[in-house]
Amino acid sequence: MGKIPCLLLVFIVTLSRSVAQIHGPKNQGEALDNLYKAKFSRDSRIDSVPVEVLDTNQFEVMDMLLDESEVRPLQKGSKEKDRIKMLPGQPQVNFSQYGGYVTVNESAGSALYYYFVEADQHSKEAALPLLLWLNGGPGCSSLGYGAMEELGPFRVHSNGKTLYRNKYSWNKVANVLFLESPAGVGFSYSNATSDNTYTSGDRDTAAQNYMFLVNWLERFPEYKDRDFYIAGESYAGHYVPQLADNILHYNKKAKRSVVNLKGIMIGNSVINDHTDMQGMYDFFGTHAITSNENLRKIQHYCNFSSAGSLYKECQEAMDKADTDVNVIDIYNIYGPLCFNSNLTSKPKKTSPMNFDPCSDSYVLAYLNRPDVQEAMHANVTKLAYDWQPCGGFNWVDSASTVLPLLKEFMASGLRVWVFSGDTDGRVPVTSSQYSINEMNLPIKTQWHPWFSDKEVGGYVQVYKGDLTLATVRGAGHMVPSIQPVRALSLISHFLAGTSPIAKVKT
Ligand SMILES: *[C@@H]1O[C@H](CO)[C@@H](O)[C@H](O)[C@H]1NC(C)=O
Ligand SMILES: *[C@@H]1O[C@H](CO)[C@@H](O)[C@H](O)[C@H]1NC(C)=O
Ligand SMILES: *[C@@H]1O[C@H](CO)[C@@H](O)[C@H](O)[C@H]1NC(C)=O
Ligand SMILES: *[C@@H]1O[C@H](CO)[C@@H](O)[C@H](O)[C@H]1NC(C)=O
Ligand SMILES: *[C@@H]1O[C@H](CO)[C@@H](O)[C@H](O)[C@H]1NC(C)=O
Ligand SMILES: *[C@@H]1O[C@H](CO)[C@@H](O)[C@H](O)[C@H]1NC(C)=O
Repeated sequence: MGKIPCLLLVFIVTLSRSVAQIHGPKNQGEALDNLYKAKFSRDSRIDSVPVEVLDTNQFEVMDMLLDESEVRPLQKGSKEKDRIKMLPGQPQVNFSQYGGYVTVNESAGSALYYYFVEADQHSKEAALPLLLWLNGGPGCSSLGYGAMEELGPFRVHSNGKTLYRNKYSWNKVANVLFLESPAGVGFSYSNATSDNTYTSGDRDTAAQNYMFLVNWLERFPEYKDRDFYIAGESYAGHYVPQLADNILHYNKKAKRSVVNLKGIMIGNSVINDHTDMQGMYDFFGTHAITSNENLRKIQHYCNFSSAGSLYKECQEAMDKADTDVNVIDIYNIYGPLCFNSNLTSKPKKTSPMNFDPCSDSYVLAYLNRPDVQEAMHANVTKLAYDWQPCGGFNWVDSASTVLPLLKEFMASGLRVWVFSGDTDGRVPVTSSQYSINEMNLPIKTQWHPWFSDKEVGGYVQVYKGDLTLATVRGAGHMVPSIQPVRALSLISHFLAGTSPIAKVKT
């Protein structure tokens, strides 16, 4: 590569970095930490009342936009107009890709950006399910993380401009829809916001996601009757159940299946604040990250049920744990750090099995290329700021628990899976275990290993009712990035409604 393009790339990367600091958290972790520090601070003004099943507050907002008994689509875009002919630098593939905007609030001029990859199947005998994937934050992009670093069909080379195939992408087993939500994340925007400081929260996000979905299905009507599943990670532990709750509510109201929801799957997800917090520090203490003494202090002085009134001794012990953990990648505690996020002129050698910890910067460069945005039908209104992995938000409500919703889903016959990459320190397996324990569910199938490629892929326990808790061995917060084979095995079993393989053939 000549000198000029090289300098240009460096310029793009430097420019984007300075913007990131002004406008938003630099990654999913910072977004989650910002929210939880605010939630547990003494002067917290975040509404964190636990979710209620069929929360009337939440529905009031949408009822203004939806008919009494029927969903009234806001607009009919065109599927063919959204077809992505080819992404710049992509290898040849046989499946179709789409990208575009769906308006979710006409009066505010809010539109959400989606990227949709149809299933990569050579035999068309079975119509594979539709799967919506959501990343968390709050405020982080399912396109930048989910599609480009985790379960999507392509990953970005270290040159920031060409793509390579992820052999273990989830579109082997489903038609996968990635959504940037709420407005203010990535390419999704609202004309009512003049700069890019957005105000949103759990309820608003659930409403936007629902409006998106019913309108997207108008554009892709062949998916209306298809089995539909929602999956996500991290703060999507809120988004996924809250969207599912909206779907159940409006199906009931319309007396028909407006959205054919069959199940949800959430990973390394925040679902119940006090057990999630306790589980995080217990994990640090039992994984030689913070000392036994410090863990004992946290266990003694911190009462995470009384957010906003934590003792000084608790705060000190948490700060100590922070300094212990901040020097490693909390999302992948045994994984490498990124020391040089500069793009390279020649792509570094890649393998989906060997996740590059500098991937964020390759994706940042790629999605900010004008030719990429044009090909993806993104940024059509020429937003005044760059694409960022996470937007800066003023987050006004964040339920302290979503466990009542999981119970509701079980009672409604939805499939509910909670999974956990067991080397994540941020929303670790201990948090998920403690949170599920709070539900007091009887056990149907005792804790046992599951297998993938003759090795233990993780462990699984099934509760009566039906809820499955499955770990993924050796995977961090972003499970499909670190353990793509095991992740694909897990999602395949989830979608098929079968248990992960419990025995290896000898
Ligand atoms: C696309 O499909 C054709 C025909 O089924 C097959 O021969 C080819 O290998 C496929 N290409 C890719 C990249 O999967
Ligand atoms: C749509 O936007 C308007 C104007 O900003 C706002 O008043 C209204 O609450 C929004 N509707 C929903 C459902 O969020
Ligand atoms: C936002 O404003 C732009 C410029 O006026 C317009 O083209 C676009 O359609 C608006 N978006 C929505 C969702 O109304
Ligand atoms: C923790 O705080 C909650 C709520 O204020 C209170 O009900 C509970 O008794 C406290 N637990 C301990 C061990 O102090
Ligand atoms: C990254 O690029 C900048 C600008 O060219 C350079 O100053 C810096 O040394 C590079 N970083 C590394 C770790 O090579
Ligand atoms: C949108 O396009 C404008 C003009 O090309 C560019 O400056 C801006 O960074 C882009 N924003 C996003 C969010 O893609």
